[in-house]
Amino acid sequence: MSNNQAAGLSPEELQAWWMPFTANAAFKSNPRMYTGAEGMYLTMADGRKIIDTNAGLWCCNAGHGRKEIADAVSKQLLEMDYANPFSYGHPLAFQLANRLVEQIAPEGLNRVFFTNSGSEAVDTATKIARQYWRLKGEASKTCFIARVKAYHGVNWAGVSLSGLTPNRKAFGPALEADFLRHTLLPENAYSRGLPDNGAELAEELNDMIGMRDASNIAAVIVEPMSGAGGIILPPKGYLQRLREICDQHNILLIFDEVISAYGRVGDAATMAEKIGVTPDLMTTAKGLTNGAIPMGAVYLKQEIYDTFVNSSDTPSIAPEFMHGYTYSAHPVACAAAMATMDIYRDDQLFAHAGKMATPWEEAIHTLDHGRNINDVRNYGLLGAIDFQPHGKAGPSRAAQIANICLENGVTVRPAGESIVMSPPLIIEQEHIDTIFNVLTDAINTVD
Ligand SMILES: Cc1ncc(COP(=O)(O)O)c(C=O)c1O
Repeated sequence: MSNNQAAGLSPEELQAWWMPFTANAAFKSNPRMYTGAEGMYLTMADGRKIIDTNAGLWCCNAGHGRKEIADAVSKQLLEMDYANPFSYGHPLAFQLANRLVEQIAPEGLNRVFFTNSGSEAVDTATKIARQYWRLKGEASKTCFIARVKAYHGVNWAGVSLSGLTPNRKAFGPALEADFLRHTLLPENAYSRGLPDNGAELAEELNDMIGMRDASNIAAVIVEPMSGAGGIILPPKGYLQRLREICDQHNILLIFDEVISAYGRVGDAATMAEKIGVTPDLMTTAKGLTNGAIPMGAVYLKQEIYDTFVNSSDTPSIAPEFMHGYTYSAHPVACAAAMATMDIYRDDQLFAHAGKMATPWEEAIHTLDHGRNINDVRNYGLLGAIDFQPHGKAGPSRAAQIANICLENGVTVRPAGESIVMSPPLIIEQEHIDTIFNVLTDAINTVD
């Protein structure tokens, strides 16, 4: 059976759309189309139902096709389709910000700035960080410290702070940045949950501060759990140590939780909450609206907000932060986010993710030391399998395995030499069984 169907579109009709992060010519000569989505499943153009182990692109945490969100969006479109967010408000935006502070924010982050994506959230957070220091009279604090293998989206801040070479090499630098090592250590291979070794990697931050001087550093930005780089987990104690060093040197700490927020890590709304480390700013998107409508949010400490709003640099009639988007706090996105928060609360989805994290961990570690496998990692409802590179031309083992899985009813995401998974939080045992049966067979098929 083949997935290569163009859903009734001719080859010419596939040309106009320049697809993102896609080998366009290859796709267009061999298209793979989704035509529907419901619950844990996607429908392909050939009518087959496929288990979605990636919640779309790490975003449909409550499963696909939630009627509650569709109803809220449709009602909002008819009530008020759009509202200018510059110097005007609408009640839903304020209600949503309060709701997020109450239901999602780690203790201490009680102000929210809305964007339309994770990339915009990262741009926004870096601009807040730089202006914050300027307002504090420390305008030389402009440099950022990020991390190798980090993904912070695709806008200029995200590109400059990206630790993934393919994502930055064509574009040149924008923000000045130094890069901490990543935390993927061979001695932690096959760890269950957070690895035991490597907290001392955080000490490298002291060396960087020694080189640059804290007077030149605005913020350290890390994904508390690197997603797109291959689900790289922080060693126990590592993030706590980053927090301590940032505090000692008066440097802001930004957690990019675009993937890890909204229940992904199980039993908590965010990674910050789960590990008990509060950043100064936190970027999110994706699960905020269950992927249904684009939206991002930057959470921040009140002290940062107050520094802007109470600044004597700005007359009280002028905006204190010259930043925002036409679609910041878009009413339809707010409606989708409110409905998503209702689902998370009413269905107790973060607790469910925590419960299912145990059978998920058991299932993924049945692959330990399997054919061509170097490492298997898991945390909450996240999982990664690393393969040895085959050293030949052509698709990686991970890509070959993903293709076989798709033929057999499961979509998994290849990322370099890894397969990464982040299923909807509504996952049940029967889905876990099918996913790992299909995956195990595929792994055993590829040389
Ligand atoms: C950690 C992180 N930051 C930022 C982004 C960018 O988000 P978006 O694609 O919504 O711009 C992503 C996307 O995967 C991400 O994983």
